[in-house]
Amino acid sequence: MNTEIFAHRGASQYAPENTMPAFDLAWKMQADGIETDVQLTKDGVPVLIHDERLERTTDGAGYVNNFTFKELRTLDAGTWFEEKFSGTLIPSLDEMLGWIQGKPLYLNIELKNNKIDYEHLEAIVIEKVRHYQLLNRTILSTFNPDSVIRLRPFNHEVEVAYLTSKRNKFLASAAKDLGANALHIKYRLLTPRLREACQREQMNIRVYTVNHPAHVHKCLEYKCHGIFTDVPDVALRLREQY
Ligand code: G3P
Ligand code: CA
Repeated sequence: MNTEIFAHRGASQYAPENTMPAFDLAWKMQADGIETDVQLTKDGVPVLIHDERLERTTDGAGYVNNFTFKELRTLDAGTWFEEKFSGTLIPSLDEMLGWIQGKPLYLNIELKNNKIDYEHLEAIVIEKVRHYQLLNRTILSTFNPDSVIRLRPFNHEVEVAYLTSKRNKFLASAAKDLGANALHIKYRLLTPRLREACQREQMNIRVYTVNHPAHVHKCLEYKCHGIFTDVPDVALRLREQY
């Protein structure tokens, strides 16, 4: 079994996270998949940005959901990272789905609804993924357990993952009970016991954010289904040598 390498927010060590240049670079590096984060604009457009607020990764200020999509498209999402990326825009989910459609990449869309529980986010995202006929290679993940429950009716057509950074003796079965097909955990939670529990519950297990070579090795050794890494080139090389 191959541990799939997902470029975390795109190849985010080398290009501004959650932008088309970061996704394109991950594709060129031959990552197996791409992880990205979705928030909702004031006019209900799903856009790819990690934070609820604009300050860290754009030249804007305020909450994403206080702006329309048209307003957000006037912002620069690249210069904060490096001058050569100036003029890079916040992508819509549509733009990314159109781009990935013709490429054999897996996709993990993280619904960023654990701080702001955006109304209808699950239905909006599923509708888009369905439209681009990508349900069979997409994983929808969220830290929000209520959102996992809302995704449950769709867990036969799209993989649903419960994300967590919190230790819990019964994580694998708790995630399964919510209706998830997979558990996505912070690296420090990875133990033989949890790995075995996932196996027993037939839950896929993926690990974030795995950048250090020793951590990549451990995930390969534990036969995790996937890792999320900012350095897909490094992880791919380590997997090849493993
Ligand atoms: O989906 C895995 C990982 O991206 C979750 O944490 O904060 O990087 O979105 P974060
Ligand atoms: Ca994420």
